[in-house]
Amino acid sequence: MATLEAIKYSRGKLLVLDQLRLPHENHYDEVSTSEEAFDCIRAMRVRGAPAIAIVAALAHAVELHNGSCSAESPEEVVAYINSRLDYLRESRPTAVDLFNAINLLKAAVKAARTEGLAHPEAKAAILAAYIEAAEAILAKDLHNNTSIGAFGAAWLQQQYNASTDRKLSVLTHCNTGSLATSGHGTALGIIRTLYSQGLLQHAYCTETRPYNQGSRLTSFELVYEGIPSTLITDSMAAALFALHRESMNIGAVIVGADRVVRNGDTANKIGTYALAVLARHHGVKFVVAAPTTSIDLETETGAGIKIEERKREELTQISGAVVNSDGSIDANKTARVAIADQRIAVWNPAFDVTPHSLIDAIVTENGVVVKGPDGRFNFRTEPSSSL
Ligand code: MRU
Repeated sequence: MATLEAIKYSRGKLLVLDQLRLPHENHYDEVSTSEEAFDCIRAMRVRGAPAIAIVAALAHAVELHNGSCSAESPEEVVAYINSRLDYLRESRPTAVDLFNAINLLKAAVKAARTEGLAHPEAKAAILAAYIEAAEAILAKDLHNNTSIGAFGAAWLQQQYNASTDRKLSVLTHCNTGSLATSGHGTALGIIRTLYSQGLLQHAYCTETRPYNQGSRLTSFELVYEGIPSTLITDSMAAALFALHRESMNIGAVIVGADRVVRNGDTANKIGTYALAVLARHHGVKFVVAAPTTSIDLETETGAGIKIEERKREELTQISGAVVNSDGSIDANKTARVAIADQRIAVWNPAFDVTPHSLIDAIVTENGVVVKGPDGRFNFRTEPSSSL
C-alpha cells in the first residue's frame, strides 16, 4: 500500500496534495514560488502546523534553486531571502511551526553569510545553506513523528497496562496524520503506532466542524490504513464517553497542537478545549502530541496566542462531491451548498486554547512531558521521559 503523502519534494520541485479536494480526488499542485505557497496555505489546500511550515520553507527553496534571486552581494541575497520569509510568515497566524522554521532558516542563512566568502561564492553558499536547511526541516519532521508515535504509545500502554488482550480505544480531533505532516503524523502517529503494536481496540474521530478535517481527512487516513474506527460529530463526544467509555476501554483523547506555550497551554483546532473538559469529567487522559517545532517558549500563557478567525462561509456553506441515487460518489461533480441563512452573523475562530491544567501529557520527539508537583509543565529542562 502506497503511503499517503501531502508533500512530494525533490530538489527544484515541490508537489502539494490539494486537501480541499479530498477525500474524493487526489490532485497535486506544483508549488514553485513563495506566492503560490502563501496562497496554498491561506486557502488551506495544505494545512496542519508541520505541513504549513514545510511547504513554506520548501517553496522558497524551489524558487531559489530555479534562480529567483537576482541579487549578487551577500547582503542583498540575505535581505531577499529574509523578505520572502517575512512574507510567508503572514500566511496563517496561529501555528508556531512556521515561525520557528523561519527563525531557523534565517539563522542558517546568517551563518552562511558570516563565513566571509567572496562573490560569487558567497551567494552560492548562502543559497545552498538555505536549501539544505529547508530540506532538513522535511527530513526531521518524519523522524519526529515516528518518535512521538513510539513515546506516546508506550506511555499510554504503561498508564493503562494495555496489552493485546486488553486493548485501548482513543478519540482524536482534527487531522494530525500524514496529511498534516511529512508522514506518519503526531496524534494520529500515536494511534498508528498503537495499532501496529496490536494495542488499539478502536479509534474514534470527530467530524471537526466547520472545516471537517476529521470527516474529510482523518476518516480517509483511518480507512486507508484499515484501522478500526468510527466517525462522530463533535457534539457526540460526551455521549460516547458516558455510554461507551467502559465497554470500549476509551483511555485517551489524543490531539495535535498548533502552538504549545511555556506553561503548557495549547492552541489546537477549535473544539479541542471542549474535549479536554469532557475528558477530565470522565476520567479519560488528555494527551497533546506536539513536535518541539510546535513549542513556543517565548509566549508565557495561552492568552498570548493569536487565534485565527476565518471566513463566514465555512459555517454557512459546505462543499462536497455529488452522491448518485445508487449511493456512488461522482468526484467530477462537486457542489457548494448553503446550510444556513446566508445573512446570519458568524463567529469562526479556527483554534481554541486548552489550559495546561486539563492536559495530562505532552508528547514530543524527545519524550513525554508531564506536570511537576507544582502542576506546571517544565520545558526549560530537557523534556523528561517517563519511559
Ligand atoms: O486549521 P488546520 O487544519 O491547519 O488545523 C490543524 C490542527 O489544528 C492540527 O491539530 C495541528 O496543526 C497539528 S497537525 C500535526
